[in-house]
Amino acid sequence: MSKAPFILAIESSCDDTAAAVLQGNRVLSNCIANQEIHKQYGGIVPELASRKHQSNIVPVIHQALRQANIDKKQIGAIAYTQGPGLLGSLLVGGSFAKSLTMAWQIPLLEIDHMQGHLLVHFIKEVHQSPPKFPFIGVTVSGGHTQLIWVEDYFKMTVLGTTLDDAIGEAFDKCGKHLGLLYPAGPEIDRLAKKGNPSRFKFPKPKVPNLNVSYSGIKTAFMNFINKETNKNREFIKENLADLCASLQKTLIEIIIEKIVLSVNLKKNYRVVIGGGVAANSGLQNILIERQKKGDWEVFIPPLAYTTDNAAMIGIAGYFKFLSHEFGDLSSCPNARLKF
Ligand code: KG4
Ligand code: ZN
Repeated sequence: MSKAPFILAIESSCDDTAAAVLQGNRVLSNCIANQEIHKQYGGIVPELASRKHQSNIVPVIHQALRQANIDKKQIGAIAYTQGPGLLGSLLVGGSFAKSLTMAWQIPLLEIDHMQGHLLVHFIKEVHQSPPKFPFIGVTVSGGHTQLIWVEDYFKMTVLGTTLDDAIGEAFDKCGKHLGLLYPAGPEIDRLAKKGNPSRFKFPKPKVPNLNVSYSGIKTAFMNFINKETNKNREFIKENLADLCASLQKTLIEIIIEKIVLSVNLKKNYRVVIGGGVAANSGLQNILIERQKKGDWEVFIPPLAYTTDNAAMIGIAGYFKFLSHEFGDLSSCPNARLKF
């Protein structure tokens, strides 16, 4: 029998309460309780998110243990998301993880959520052969947009980041302006497939180096929509697919231009993406096209591992376990955790 430890992973950085059980690099269960409550507010309400985590966390952990078909006595360590994220949400998962490690007398593993989004590629069933180090990591989510030079599991250096909003935030806020429910990213993606991406032009920011900015396009998009709906109240309804396709094209071009720059700078052609926006079909198509042309070697996670999940925290925990990087009970969640 394999000696790899069973790791229980807990993720509660934002609005999803998630728990997973891994044995070594294999995922035995990966459970998520989504918080539908935020839809009616058009975005995440932090106070409501932490309350929902409180009520979801016990059932989700039970479910993860049940699906993995193991007894809690077999768990060898607990990995939890230390940050970045919403403090109230992080505190729920963090306090729960710490209490369990005390009760079960097992080690605690503190995980950076953004590192988890990239390390998901090392889960056994994700790729036949995982990416080799070093590579260009691209994290695109609701809270982050980063280009990262990844030399080892935890040797990561940020090459560029957003100066304001994250790409997912731009998808969601522009989508809200179109009347779409939160999170609007997946719906824009779906509608964009039926639209003309060249129909409307939105300005792209001129940001030096490898940084990006998404607040300018968000404002330009909203001003454009307001102007057009003042002229024609049916403007959104009549042009929804084209608006989504044109917006998505611009949002993606901004990050693709910076991926090209980082690849050239580092002379490294291995591009590994992670985070909720990695599920976007437009972004994936461009990356796959590059791969087909032989320009880049591209790694895209399967859908279940793009948006927030606990398996990504578990795999990061496994590598920390192997290198004996254990947390202690005085560790604290950090909303602005940086690596
Ligand atoms: O990684 P994630 O689940 O949470 C954060 O860590 O932020 O990412 C959530 C973000 C949301 O902004 C959501 O709209 C976006 O990922 N998203 C998408 C798609 N699926 C999720 N954006 C564009 N296209 C998608 N298919
Ligand atoms: Zn995330």
